[in-house]
Amino acid sequence: MDHHLTPLDVTQLANWKALTEHREAMSTFSMRAAFASDSQRFQRFSLYACGLMLDFSKNLITEQTLELLVKLAEEAQLGDAISAMFNGQVINASEQRPVLHTALRRPVGDKVFVAGKNIMPDVHQVLQQMTDLVTRLHNGLWRGYSEKVITDVVNIGIGGSFLGPQLVSEALLPFAQKGVRCHYLANVDGSEFRELVSKLSAETTLFIVSSKSFSTLETLKNAQAARAWYLAQGGSEAELHRHFIAVSSNVAAAKAFGIREENVLPMWDWVGGRYSLWSAIGLPIAMSIGISNFKEMLSGAYAMDQHFQSAPFARNIPVLLALLGVWYGDFWGARSQAILPYDYYLRNITDHLQQLDMESNGKSVRQDGSPITAGTGPVIWGGVGCNGQHAYHQLLHQGSQLIPADFIVPVSSYNPVADHHQWLYANCLSQSQALMLGKTRDEAEAELRGKGLPESEVQRLAPHKVVPGNRPSNTLVL
Ligand code: F6P
Repeated sequence: MDHHLTPLDVTQLANWKALTEHREAMSTFSMRAAFASDSQRFQRFSLYACGLMLDFSKNLITEQTLELLVKLAEEAQLGDAISAMFNGQVINASEQRPVLHTALRRPVGDKVFVAGKNIMPDVHQVLQQMTDLVTRLHNGLWRGYSEKVITDVVNIGIGGSFLGPQLVSEALLPFAQKGVRCHYLANVDGSEFRELVSKLSAETTLFIVSSKSFSTLETLKNAQAARAWYLAQGGSEAELHRHFIAVSSNVAAAKAFGIREENVLPMWDWVGGRYSLWSAIGLPIAMSIGISNFKEMLSGAYAMDQHFQSAPFARNIPVLLALLGVWYGDFWGARSQAILPYDYYLRNITDHLQQLDMESNGKSVRQDGSPITAGTGPVIWGGVGCNGQHAYHQLLHQGSQLIPADFIVPVSSYNPVADHHQWLYANCLSQSQALMLGKTRDEAEAELRGKGLPESEVQRLAPHKVVPGNRPSNTLVL
């Protein structure tokens, strides 16, 4: 049977019921006490894969919680669903498509079939096309209408044709090749357009019209505005091909816009827009960091794909993070999830994850059209630390809601400045520790007495100083 046609009400599964009972028993669980009584808790609830370390010890979990969550995943046939995706089954039921961004990261020689055709030769042919283009650009062989070397690339695209490439080209800025600057134009807002082009010269600018469908209003309006600006600056229709290229699965529409067929890099309808940075939509990334770094990035993602497919669920980073999401969303009533990168280069990761998670899970019916009975996903929000500590962390620590948080932090910095990185790192760890430990009434009172306050003031202020603690977080160390 096709996997997507199996209507599954997870709330009726035996392990869902077992988890509901277990949740009751966990009402009195204290992370503080669990750490105090188990010196191995960190070792028990942390793991390494693909150069990443996940510390999930500061969660409202015991060994039994994990066991039940893993059993739930097995009962819900998660393993079959993962295989169905990687093997190219039609798991996108509404559009009747496979979901194969993972094929974009597979090495030469691998085979993946869509409608009986091995798609891997096409994948590597487009990668070769990207290689040729990026090499010409970096060698100064791609020139504008006045024969000047291209110095600026503007990616015109929105949603997945913007957020992923922007995040990654900024995250990998330390690897940027000198000479080519990448810019992003997404919204249909004249101010965004004007502010950007005021910094550019048409002679040395290359526009990439990046749109899977080539029918997105914002992107088409910006592409038209860019063409009008290029012509007004002195460019000609005849030389337009030197300044406009496209990435799209709609080659006909890109040609109708005036882009030469050889300047349209194809993508396929089996790549979801929000997962497209691994396809030719990632061209601005490759233009920024170079094609060999781009290929290394694909290998890194491939390594994680292998881990995701082969690691047992209890030792599988993506599966564990997803199961913890189910635990808090469906059993603890959490409605949002904070993503807190302690890294300047990853400052936009929240926006990208917002699209990945909220666009994917923003549904109220199952694959077969029947209404859902469990939650589908949280509100994803957050931002870079330490900035958030002086803004919204207050609500994480002392607010009335339970908001699970994911901290992301690199062990070292590309830009050591005095002892800044130690401070950044220490802040990240101490935030997760403070969320977990909180501050008891006794501790709050002792702190106030330590300041020499009269007892009446101690009693008045103490309730405001109490921090409930027992608030869950993960820490992903890079
Ligand atoms: O509006 C949703 C959406 O289709 C996203 O899924 C997609 O990433 C974005 O718009 C841009 O689409 P396109 O690449 O086709 O212009």
